Amino acid sequence: MNITKDIIYVGVNDHEVDLFEGQYDVPNGMAYNSYLILDEKIAVMDSVDAKFTHEWLDNIEKAAGGRKPDYLVVQHMEPDHSANICAFMNNYPEAVIVSSAKAFTMMKNFYGSDFEDRRIVVAEGNTLPLGAHTLNFIGAPMVHWPEVLMTYDSADKVLFSADGFGKFGALDADEDWACEARRYYFGIVGKYGAQVQAVLKKAAGLEIEAICPLHGPMLTENLGYYIGLYNTWSSYGVESDGIVICYTSVYGNTKKAVEMLAEKLKAKGCPKVAVNDLARDDMAEAVEDAFRYGKIVLATTTYNAEIFPFMREFINHLTERGFKNKTVGLIENGSWAPLAAKTMRNMLADCKNLTFTDTTVKITSALNDESKEQVEALANELCMDYLAQGDDTADKNDLKALFNIGYGLYVVTSNDGKKDNGLIVNTVTQVTSTPNRIAVCINKQNYSHHVIQQTGVMNINCLSVDAPFSVFEQFGFRSGRNTDKFEGEEVLRSDNGLVFLQRYINAMMSLKVVQYVDLGTHGMFICDVTEARVLSDKETMTYTYYQKNVKPKPQTEGKKGFVCKICGYVYEGDELPDDFVCPLCKHGPADFEPIK
Ligand code: FEO
Repeated sequence: MNITKDIIYVGVNDHEVDLFEGQYDVPNGMAYNSYLILDEKIAVMDSVDAKFTHEWLDNIEKAAGGRKPDYLVVQHMEPDHSANICAFMNNYPEAVIVSSAKAFTMMKNFYGSDFEDRRIVVAEGNTLPLGAHTLNFIGAPMVHWPEVLMTYDSADKVLFSADGFGKFGALDADEDWACEARRYYFGIVGKYGAQVQAVLKKAAGLEIEAICPLHGPMLTENLGYYIGLYNTWSSYGVESDGIVICYTSVYGNTKKAVEMLAEKLKAKGCPKVAVNDLARDDMAEAVEDAFRYGKIVLATTTYNAEIFPFMREFINHLTERGFKNKTVGLIENGSWAPLAAKTMRNMLADCKNLTFTDTTVKITSALNDESKEQVEALANELCMDYLAQGDDTADKNDLKALFNIGYGLYVVTSNDGKKDNGLIVNTVTQVTSTPNRIAVCINKQNYSHHVIQQTGVMNINCLSVDAPFSVFEQFGFRSGRNTDKFEGEEVLRSDNGLVFLQRYINAMMSLKVVQYVDLGTHGMFICDVTEARVLSDKETMTYTYYQKNVKPKPQTEGKKGFVCKICGYVYEGDELPDDFVCPLCKHGPADFEPIK
């Protein structure tokens, strides 16, 4: 089989193999690819598995048309590709091996010789001229072993990609590429996403018309599709929309919860629910599903005060492959001391950017009303986006959406002619750039609104992430009409005479009001910038950052009532009066939530 006029396939199909690499089911066998490049010099790209010595040498002999190969290029030393190096070298005593320094060390370890007097050591950037063709070597360490080279033939624009872009299955298997290539990728190369990304960056600078991997078909069309999938896989992105559930079940009760959840997920609009029984289904399929989808549910039983062994093995597969960037839901079962959820969470603790659902389903032996409700809640959480996307299922009046507008936090300073004043706002926005205009919205009930209306000037102090809660206590929660927020402080002043903060800000701006818009409860000041200074390169404090990292957690334990979402004030009582105003931050009942 010719790939191009001069590049001929000399690899073999293996339909005998039971487990590839001693662990992966390969129902459609394996291909061990090897290629011969016919030029003034003849190069053979890699050898094949030990079982196919003569078939491979016959293929070479036929492709070479009576000539003898000059080079054996060894891109990868794993024995499925290197097992016949010695047979080749014996058969062609004039031939030379071209490979990386690390590969020669491995050659000696595997086969007792590093062919010291019959070798060319190459590395990234080296070339091997064959005549019309020139081989350009590209370092590809850890894709999938450290010695790996890929090779680019600049004449035919062919990338020999070693294990990259390989798949399970012999070449005569009629099957989807992505399914078995994904299972192969995550099983074998999945841990090395960063290294694959590095190679993809190098490949992006090459004009490639064909990819010739060491397993699976040669890719000659639609290369953007394959490279795109490799980019998604190696960057741990979401390939397909859907949810995967991976479970173990001893007596079927955990399985019942999984089945119930799967039905609910589908009913709530999830386009694909993949379910894997880790004890019975192919573990490598479950692993590829875990990386394929953006959301995963792990369901298992407590077992020997830990978790069921197949789940332990599965999570180990995930963590050793750098599992990250997922939403994770947990279902645990335990008849007397459920510990599975805690164990699973601990096992995943070092994975980056996992978001655990608020709901964890706890089954105590068998599903009951309470755990069924939890399954419903978990389904709602996991399908929040699908429900909101659906025209019929969406809550189109969910004003919590407004909380997701990104805000910074700022201290606005002003002066009423007698003393300096400051308040916290999150409503500072640049509205034009020619000229630079800033809009600042302030609640009319705040004394600062009154002062700025009178004076027409203010300073904006951009809080940085190092600002402690005491800054919010100093400038929020109380009025400047009857308190001196700068009492006893030595202050710094800008050219307009107003205070700017000495600490905890990364920038300040002096503003002059050019327009006022009455918004009912608030007034919007549209301002020119008269002075602007950058004081540090720390990040700006956002409202979200403040909520997560700065605001103390309200002391609600053992209390019944309502807590203010703005400042954490706790109101104890069965009902919050409609006209209640938070004594700290002055926000009304809409900003309170019941203590859970
Ligand atoms: Fe196909 Fe890593 O050997």
